[in-house]
Amino acid sequence: MRFENKVALVTGAGVGIGKAIALALAKEGADVIINDINGESANAAADEIKKLGRQALLVIADVSSEDEVHNMVEKSIEAFGRIDILINNAGISDQIVPTLEQKVDRWQHLMDVHLRGCYLCSKETGKYMVEQRYGRIVNIASVVGLGGLPYRTAYGPAKAGIIMLTKNLAIEWARYNINVNSVSPGYILTEMVQKGIELGVADDKTVKRRTPMGRLGRTEEIAEPVLFLLSDAASFVNGANLPVDGGWTAFGSYGDAFEIP
Ligand SMILES: NC(=O)c1ccc[n+]([C@@H]2O[C@H](COP(=O)([O-])OP(=O)(O)OC[C@H]3O[C@@H](n4cnc5c(N)ncnc54)[C@H](O)[C@@H]3O)[C@@H](O)[C@H]2O)c1
Repeated sequence: MRFENKVALVTGAGVGIGKAIALALAKEGADVIINDINGESANAAADEIKKLGRQALLVIADVSSEDEVHNMVEKSIEAFGRIDILINNAGISDQIVPTLEQKVDRWQHLMDVHLRGCYLCSKETGKYMVEQRYGRIVNIASVVGLGGLPYRTAYGPAKAGIIMLTKNLAIEWARYNINVNSVSPGYILTEMVQKGIELGVADDKTVKRRTPMGRLGRTEEIAEPVLFLLSDAASFVNGANLPVDGGWTAFGSYGDAFEIP
C-alpha cells in the first residue's frame, strides 16, 4: 500500500471529489482527517473510511476562517501527532451572472473559500510539515483557472490564484522535503453536477461537445492522478499543475462552443 502510516487531511471531503480522494487514500493505507462544513455527509464519509479499517477523524470547520482552520489542525495533531498529506479541495460554485450583476459579497465569499482557504490550510499544516521535514500538498484548482470562461469572474481568478499559490509554496518549502502541486479538473460528474443537469441548470451537452473525450470525468479519475502526485513515484514533481480534463485544456482557445450566453 502506497500510503501506509501516513496521515492525510482532506478539506471538503464529505462528498464529490474530496470524498473520492479520501477513500482512495484510505484504501492505500492512510488515516484520514475528514473536513467539511456539512456534518451529515462528512460523518458518512468518515464511517466509510473506518469500514476500510483506517482511522478517521471528523473535523467540522470552515476553511475560510483563520480560527477554525487553526483549531482543526491542532485537533488533528493532537489525534495523530503529524499530518503528512494535505488536500485543499473544499470549494463552492460561482454565481454564473454578468459581472455587473454580481454581488460583491458573493465574489468575496468565493475568493475566501477557495483562495484564502487554500492559503490558511497550507500555512497551518505547513508549520508541522516544515518541522517534520516531510509534506505532500495537492491543491484542487480547475481548468477555469487556466483559461477564461464567461461569467466566472470569481471562480476563475480564485483557481488561477490557487495555481500560483501552489508554485510559490513549492519553491519556498522545497528545502523542507515538501512537495506542493495542483490538479486542474475539467467537468466532473459529481452528485451536484448531476443534479444541475437534471434540473436544467448545467448544460452537459455543451460540455461534452467542448471536451475532446466527449464526456464528463468521474471523481475517481481525479483521485488517481492526485494519489500519483502524493506518491514516491512523483518525488521530483514540485510546483506543477496537472490538468485532468479529457483534453479540455489542449483544446485551447478554440472552444467556440462557449459563446457568451
Ligand atoms: N465538479 C467539477 O466539475 C469540478 C471541476 C473543477 C474543479 N472542481 C473543484 O473540485 C473541488 C471539489 O468539487 P466538487 O465538485 O467535489 O464539489 P462538491 O460541492 O460536490 O463538494 C465540495 C465540498 O466542500 C464542502 N465545503 C464547501 N465550503 C466549505 C468550507 N468553507 N469549508 C469546508 N468545506 C466546505 C462542501 O460542503 C462539500 O462537501 C472544488 O474545489 C471545486 O472547485 C470541481
